[in-house]
Amino acid sequence: MGVFITFEGPEGSGKSTQARLLYERLQAEGYPVILTREPGGTRIGEMIRRILVDLRHTEMAPTTETLLFSAARAQLVSELIRPYLSTGGIVLCDRYADSTFAYQGYGLGRDLDELQAITAVATGGLMPDLTFYLDIDVEEGLRRKRAQRERNTPDAPGARAEWNRLDARDLAYHQRVVAGFFELMQREPARWRRLSANQPIATLAAQIYAEVEPLLAPVARLGPTV
Ligand code: TYD
Repeated sequence: MGVFITFEGPEGSGKSTQARLLYERLQAEGYPVILTREPGGTRIGEMIRRILVDLRHTEMAPTTETLLFSAARAQLVSELIRPYLSTGGIVLCDRYADSTFAYQGYGLGRDLDELQAITAVATGGLMPDLTFYLDIDVEEGLRRKRAQRERNTPDAPGARAEWNRLDARDLAYHQRVVAGFFELMQREPARWRRLSANQPIATLAAQIYAEVEPLLAPVARLGPTV
């Protein structure tokens, strides 16, 4: 029931913007849709997020980090994602379990089978129907994110870009993460759509919508259809 779509990619790939644009378009078309993010998306998950991104938490053990991401995910799946999918709606999520495999697995070197087991517990086995990978060179993405942070003023409180504990890891870490995403895509090519993040925002948004459209047939629209 429902359609579950996630967005993945390195820092600065513009995932959050594209997830929001897809959300707005689906809403305008009258589809029942929610947009959420990881880590976070619930009251408890946002509290866990603050612990994870805090630059002061340099002593955090990799196991703690993995379990906190998974705990936030467990809450999101049970509080929001599953209930909404069971009503037949569309759930869009900015990052999901693939980020744990890429960041904690390939990035930090955690055992992938162990991550698989933890993820199965956290999600009850729920995986997306479709996952977008927004492809950008790691260094370019980090540059974009830094530039975004510098533009982030109190006048733009909605702007999400923050420089956090996880961004602050070295370039080699971010490169391992991207290599990890490529492996994940190779393993499950049917689920993934890899699109270049080096194109105008509207062009990419149109490509994303074109990939989503075939999945919409079973979703009942809320408003009158034209
Ligand atoms: P965020 O500022 O949301 O980054 P982005 O906008 O690029 O998504 O911070 C989320 C960070 O958490 C990001 O660096 C990726 C990382 N992350 C993991 O390491 N593991 C995970 O399971 C998830 C969901 C995110």
